Amino acid sequence: NWSMENFIDMEVEKIRESVGNRKVLCALSGGVDSSVVAALVHKAIGDQLICMFIDHGLLRKDEAEGVVKTFGEGFDMNFVKIDAQDRFLSKLAGVTDPEQKRKIIGNEFIYVFEEEASKLVDVDFLAQGTLYTDIIESGTDTAQTIKSHHNVGGLPEDMKFELIEPLNTLFKDEVRIVGAELGLPDEVVWRQPFPGPGLGIRVLGAITDEKLEIVRESDAILRDEIKKAGLDREIWQYFTALPDMKSVGVMGDERTYDYTVGIRAVTSIDGMTSDWARIPYDVLEIISTRIVNEVKSVNRVVYDITSKPPSTIEWE
Ligand code: XMP
Repeated sequence: NWSMENFIDMEVEKIRESVGNRKVLCALSGGVDSSVVAALVHKAIGDQLICMFIDHGLLRKDEAEGVVKTFGEGFDMNFVKIDAQDRFLSKLAGVTDPEQKRKIIGNEFIYVFEEEASKLVDVDFLAQGTLYTDIIESGTDTAQTIKSHHNVGGLPEDMKFELIEPLNTLFKDEVRIVGAELGLPDEVVWRQPFPGPGLGIRVLGAITDEKLEIVRESDAILRDEIKKAGLDREIWQYFTALPDMKSVGVMGDERTYDYTVGIRAVTSIDGMTSDWARIPYDVLEIISTRIVNEVKSVNRVVYDITSKPPSTIEWE
């Protein structure tokens, strides 16, 4: 019978035993899995853990600050933040194909990680948030790749680290329980899924600073209102996307020609299939009004009412 306290105690013991007085590196993305690994390994070996957080410039509003605050300050971990925004954004300049964008982001992540990890001396282990489900999924050769999924933790095999994967017997709901028990805040434990390529696949077509800003600001408004309406736990994922189009509107006496923001909100069990969330009209109205009023260069808001399949959750 699985008990969470047992699990934590046993894993802490195992980690201490295999690590001894050596050092462990953990790539922290801010997601549930890597956060729980970091907290667990930290409980086991404290200062022998080094967490690395790479900001690729495609994060949501206030996300990087949140990670620094939780882990660097809250847990007082050895914490390295790498500001790689310029590197990623210059590689992505002018690239419009969704799979190409994913590939660039995934590869660049690995380059940055390798480069930074090689600057650290005496690190023998790499801790990763691999779940039981990740192992099962990668083991099926019948699984079709509809979109290549880059796990931000997916690192090259030739890195000479020993792997520590303490969550590889757990399902997502168990990981959340462990995370809460380890003292991670609700925002981390109940964080909605966020793709590794981040806002890079929510700005459709070529990525620019202006478009990233529109997605970031409109997404922050959406999240704020969903939370205020008390819907944040029942909706699996909710975010805004920016299609590569402009349309005509009117503001005051002036004709405008500006961007359209798309709202995507879905219910799901595992992300494999989904239905669009029935957000009450009055909540949608507040979200729409706020986005048009508060986000520059937006004159229209649309709501995505397709299920998966035939659609997908993300727009790219
Ligand atoms: P789709 O869009 O395929 O998304 O219906 C299913 C779930 O996977 C997430 N997603 C990704 N996660 N790297 C990730 O780590 C990716 O490239 C990626 N693409 C989609 C998506 O947010 C949803 O939760």
